[in-house]
Amino acid sequence: MDLSRPMSAGDLSVINAAWAEHLVLLWRDRHLTVEQHIGFGRSFGQLEPMSHVAAARDLPAEILVIENDPVLNKSAEAPEPYRQGFQFHPVQWHSDNSYRPVPPKGSALYIRESPPKGGATLFSNMYAALEALPSHLRRQIEGRSQIHDPSLNSANVLRKGARLPDDVSRGTGPRHPMIRRHPVTGRSALYLGRRPYAYVCGYSVAESEALLDQLWRHATNPGFIWQRDGNRPGDLFLWDNRCAMHARDGLDSGERRLAHRVQILGEAPIPG
Ligand SMILES: [Fe+2]
Repeated sequence: MDLSRPMSAGDLSVINAAWAEHLVLLWRDRHLTVEQHIGFGRSFGQLEPMSHVAAARDLPAEILVIENDPVLNKSAEAPEPYRQGFQFHPVQWHSDNSYRPVPPKGSALYIRESPPKGGATLFSNMYAALEALPSHLRRQIEGRSQIHDPSLNSANVLRKGARLPDDVSRGTGPRHPMIRRHPVTGRSALYLGRRPYAYVCGYSVAESEALLDQLWRHATNPGFIWQRDGNRPGDLFLWDNRCAMHARDGLDSGERRLAHRVQILGEAPIPG
């Protein structure tokens, strides 16, 4: 299937069906311009502007740049993400932008340059995690919401201007259902977002911490995880944030990597 051109309705429905069934799709050896990547993303919905994170780049607002640059990593004048090591540190398990009231439904990541080792993306199936969740844990989260703290990015680095909550039970982030129903498949998935400073409403902070530790241990069990060995230039990933989490291996700060991502507008999480 040629993904560089507008898709036919038939091709799009084949991809949408595969996406709903598999949560994550990967095409390899693709050659996409920036505009073609944007066109691919738009097949699945409206794209969100990423200019707040990709500012100062000569690229359309829909493109989020993820770049590991050995020179910038060492430069005191480089933009913050380079100085913080965000571009080569491991990225912790998360679902994109869960700290917003309306998180994106999906993301399309296109690898333009990549070293042969390091920087691989891992995915965890949150339908499977919920289905295998021990009943005593399920009972503790049924009908409950969690506060998703917005202060850290996915490399656990404090965002510019952000402040860590003194008390997670009074956090400023949105409250999302812990069991989330997928609007397309109708299936329920565990929805955790990210671990740091999260809080399960209705419990004491100590009870919430203990519960979240158990849930995270369960959700990142290797049995729910899928990954390909390393990324290759030309890899195009499409994932669903409503039923999958992702993480990324670290990479050598001296290795060059460049990826572009577009983010597809979602809907407020539906309790499942
Ligand atoms: Fe992410």
